[in-house]
Amino acid sequence: MSNNSAFSETNTYINAVSTLIRGRGLHYLVLTFGCQQNESDSEKIRGMCEAMGYTPSPDGERADLLIVNTCAIREHAEMKALSILGNFKSHKIENPDMIIGVVGCMAAEKDVVARIKRSFSFVSFTAEPASLHKIPELVSNAMINGEKSFLATPDSYDIVEDMPVVRLNKFRAWVSVMYGCNNFCSYCIVPYVRGRERSRDSSAIIKECQELISAGVKEITLLGQNVNSYRSDINFAGLVTRISEIEGDFIIRFMTSHPKDTSDELIRAISTSGGKIAPHFHLPLQSGSDAVLKRMNRTYDLERFMSTVDKLRLAVPDIAITTDIIVGFPGESEEDFSKTLGALRRARFDMVYAFIYSERKGTRSATWEDDVSKEIKTDRMTRLLKLQGEISPERNERFVGQTLKVLVESFDGQEGVYIGHSPHNKQVRFACERVEIGSFVNVLIKSAKNTCLIGTVQV
Ligand code: SAH
Ligand code: SF4
Ligand code: F3S
Repeated sequence: MSNNSAFSETNTYINAVSTLIRGRGLHYLVLTFGCQQNESDSEKIRGMCEAMGYTPSPDGERADLLIVNTCAIREHAEMKALSILGNFKSHKIENPDMIIGVVGCMAAEKDVVARIKRSFSFVSFTAEPASLHKIPELVSNAMINGEKSFLATPDSYDIVEDMPVVRLNKFRAWVSVMYGCNNFCSYCIVPYVRGRERSRDSSAIIKECQELISAGVKEITLLGQNVNSYRSDINFAGLVTRISEIEGDFIIRFMTSHPKDTSDELIRAISTSGGKIAPHFHLPLQSGSDAVLKRMNRTYDLERFMSTVDKLRLAVPDIAITTDIIVGFPGESEEDFSKTLGALRRARFDMVYAFIYSERKGTRSATWEDDVSKEIKTDRMTRLLKLQGEISPERNERFVGQTLKVLVESFDGQEGVYIGHSPHNKQVRFACERVEIGSFVNVLIKSAKNTCLIGTVQV
């Protein structure tokens, strides 16, 4: 389901803007909030900005075109984006020709768009996630006649292929494979702001991966709000297998998976990929209480979740499993919460991303009383982090004495160590003479810390 006419329309506007700004040395800045999907979208936004003739802001602050790519998942994320946006009012006063756009998930919320119109009059346009390809048109309208546009609902949810893209990292790449979500977990805004699930054609994804690998990319992360419900001519297990068969030295990651779509076939695909599919699975549990899971509309209970964890560990013995937990969901009792702690003790996740429940207008749970007090939420969060703070380092210990294939990502000049990630997505730090950033090296793990592994390079 792709829409090439939408892209050719985009190209027309790109050409129009690039004619207008040719030789004027105009700069752009893209600020990104939220998940990897937004990071990936921002690479396309940068692609459009550069195709229009803008160059990156030299100081990362001043710009003639500012695009804020927002996240709506929790209230805190929204507040942060609006506060940073507010800081740019003075830039607009200094540079009245500056164009400011607010895009992404917040731009799909009608009341947020109304608030932006009302209180952020220096904003030229908004565009929700399915309308990002319209950015050149919106910039063009703002430039030519100062027209303001506020798009809170898209003309269509069709996938637009072949957008220009500026990737910030030369050896790690995001590849979106599906968009949207059909699950309607009762607390979650994503299905409302990202629309229903739609998957890219497998041929387009495989071609993109082949090109990235030929260009030297060493790690590809497949993205989707519900990545393992991908379905086109093949299913997700088929897709990762096809990508893993591409010639070259690289690894594949993917996120985020829903427990209900974690099939035996997908688990088999990981275990038979010869290490090409990373031994890491992010599997959000959300709560250890079946009653809470039911009200969350997660469609599994703890036993079913645990049986998936067991299957993953049986098929891929060293696999790292990480999860998301929501603390203080409406009606969460002390007993419910202690079941979550029990689930953490039982599952022994490598890492837990915990979030305090945030009421999202328009979702089902927003109609229920947010009845767990702030103090109790904070106390539960502290207890959860304390417990996981004991489990994570224990989980890291299993790698001591093992040699891991590490993708070298940066050099920490202060400590004089290189930093990379193992296939299990553990940060690995090691001192050595000189290695190339963006290459794989074998590292013998000597010790484990809370959040990383320390080792030495094996030659
Ligand atoms: N599609 C992914 C999650 C996307 S959002 C999945 O199903 O797991 C990432 C995480 O944010 C979720 O897993 C959940 O733990 C958290 N989250 C989502 N909505 C939230 C809310 N209203 N309040 C607090 N945390 C929330
Ligand atoms: Fe939100 Fe649930 Fe969809 Fe994840 S699966 S994006 S938590 S509705
Ligand atoms: Fe946020 Fe949208 Fe991602 S709400 S978490 S940026 S899909």
